Parts: sequence; structure tokens; C-alpha cells
Amino acid sequence: MSRREYAVAVIPGDGIGPEVVAEALKVVKAAASIHGFSLKLTEYPWSGDHYLKTQVLMPDEALDEYRQQDAVFLGAIGDPRLPIGLIERAVVGALRFRLDLYVNLRPIRCLADHLSPLKGKGPKEIDFVVCRENTEDAYTGIGGFLKKGTQDEVAIQEMIYTRKGVERVIRYAYETAKRRPRRKLTLVDKANAINAHDLWRRTFAEVGAEKAYADVSTEVAYVDAAGMWMVKNPESFDVIVTTNLFGDILTDLGAILQGGMGIAASGNLHPGRVSMFEPIHGSAPKYRGLGKANPLAAIAAGAMLLDYVGEREAAARIEGAVERLLVSRRISSVGTDSGLSTSQVGDLVTAELKAQAAKA
Ligand code: IPM
Ligand code: MG
Repeated sequence: MSRREYAVAVIPGDGIGPEVVAEALKVVKAAASIHGFSLKLTEYPWSGDHYLKTQVLMPDEALDEYRQQDAVFLGAIGDPRLPIGLIERAVVGALRFRLDLYVNLRPIRCLADHLSPLKGKGPKEIDFVVCRENTEDAYTGIGGFLKKGTQDEVAIQEMIYTRKGVERVIRYAYETAKRRPRRKLTLVDKANAINAHDLWRRTFAEVGAEKAYADVSTEVAYVDAAGMWMVKNPESFDVIVTTNLFGDILTDLGAILQGGMGIAASGNLHPGRVSMFEPIHGSAPKYRGLGKANPLAAIAAGAMLLDYVGEREAAARIEGAVERLLVSRRISSVGTDSGLSTSQVGDLVTAELKAQAAKA
């Protein structure tokens, strides 16, 4: 039997990116040897450092190379020495747009009671997933300035939604909801103020009327209220589908419900094609090189990557190991205050995986 092998492009990126990626790869490689598959990793240097040295952001040829691979694994992008948004658009934006990664899947799961910032809400109540549209909205770069720098300046940024773009993420969200025990899907928009969101409402109702989704219960919520409910009644959510910008905002709030940015992971997906996995956190420049950043979000993103390429059992084992370490408080927090170094956290997860495999 031929060994299963997956080609993964690795972009460690800026700030704490390289440190957390190293730990995630340590864990993913341990899972590979336990579960009998291998990884062909190709590392790419795109980062603020690389740009300052070479003036190269991320060339087109790199995108062609990713298209030949199974997945892209990204650490973090963002460098305060560069103009705001330059490298984010050139790397994160380009990956999402040019690879047409139309779903940003962001699971919000609080793994242990003590991680929850909400009184009386823990793992039972905080367990939902956000399907954020990932290729349209205010992120398309359509807009500009008129009379820039004058008293008469006009600044315009268009929110673009296409029927195709809206429908495909809504369909993905229905499919996701259908596979979960609660089978509940909430559309989050701002249709009472943004007329264009009527397209979301109609598409949501039309797709939902299909026979295949008859057993999915639906709800719509305005984004302002949804933000409040995420804090007040997080248990009211199972699957959320929303626009790119609202999804961006709500998932930082969601990350805090999970315990912090140090545990929140995401998958940028085009089902059936090369997809990209990354922690939701940024490059955290002030922690760069200190070995203090918590790599759990990157490790969780690594698990999502394995799940996506088809190694479901390995992915579930990594998630289980992280959960046990947090519940037992062998890893006491998902932040920089865990008393553990970046590599100690990676080592603990790896050891837990191996111990579990030895028992099985
Ligand atoms: C995210 C980030 C990005 C976004 C930034 C880096 C452009 O906040 O992945 O959530 O806004 O999508
Ligand atoms: Mg964000």
C-alpha cells in the first residue's frame, strides 16, 4: 500500500509566527508518524523581514506552487515597520482572494470551564462555528479617495456581494449545520441598515427551502444583537453564516469566549481545492522571539489542516490531547501567562499524543 503523503506549503510569517508554526509542525509530524502518513513541507519566506531585505511581498509563482499542493499553513502576518495593511493584503488577502478560499471556518469552542470569560457559561454553552464569507464585502479593495488630504476629501470603500459568493458560503454553512447534532443555522447581517444584505436574506431563504436542508432550523440576527447574544446566550448559536467584515469582528469576540486568541484557529477553504489554515491571532510583535507565545492556536490550525486533507482521526487525536491538557490544567492557560514556554507547550501536546497512542 502506498503511504499517504500530503504536500503542505508553510509560511511562518512575522512576529511570533515562526515560533508557533515550529510547535504546530512538531505536533503534526508526531501525529503523522503515529497515524502512518507523511508530510512534504515546503517553506516560504514571505514576511516583513523578507520584504525589507528584498522588496518582495509574495510573487505570483508562489500561488502557482500552492495550487499544486494540498494545503497552505500560515503562522502570522503583520509588521509594524511597514505601511498599515501592506503585507496583510499581499499575503493573507492574496491567499484568500487568489486561491478563491471562499469560506473562513472559525470554530468557537471553549474547551475547559476555567478558560471561559463568562460567568456560568463553559464548554456546554460555548460551542459553535462561524462560516465567514472570505472573498467579498469591504475586503475587495474597490474604492478610493478623491481630493485626498484636502478639506473636501471623499473616501469610498464598496461592500461587494455577488449571488455566487453569497450562495456558496451559505450552502457550505447549511452543509455544516446539517452534520452537527443541533442542526441550527443563524444568518448574521445588518439588513435593517445595509440594503445590499437583502441578497443575503433571499439567498439564505432560497437555499434553506431545498429539501436537503429541511431538517436544519434557521434564524436571522442583526450583527449588533448577535454580538450581544454571543456574550449573553452563546448557547443560542450552533452555526453562524455571515459577511466577511462581520465575521472578522465576531470571531475576535468568539476567540475570547474560547479563552483567548491563543487557542482560536481557522481554515480558509475552497472545498475540494488547496486551502489555507492559520491561527486567528496576529503576529504579536512584542512577543517575537521571546519563546512565550502560546502555540495552541497554531496547533489547533494544524489539526484543522489534517482534518481537511482527510486525516480525521489524527486531527481528532490532536484536539483531544489539547482538550485534556487544558481541562487537567497541565496547560493552565491559552495565553502567555501559562508559565510554559512556546516549545514546552508543543512538547506537552506531543507527549500527550504519544501517550494516548501507546494506550490505544
Ligand atoms: C483575520 C485578520 C485579517 C482580516 C487581517 C490581518 C487583514 O484580522 O484573519 O481575521 O481582517 O481578515
Ligand atoms: Mg480578524
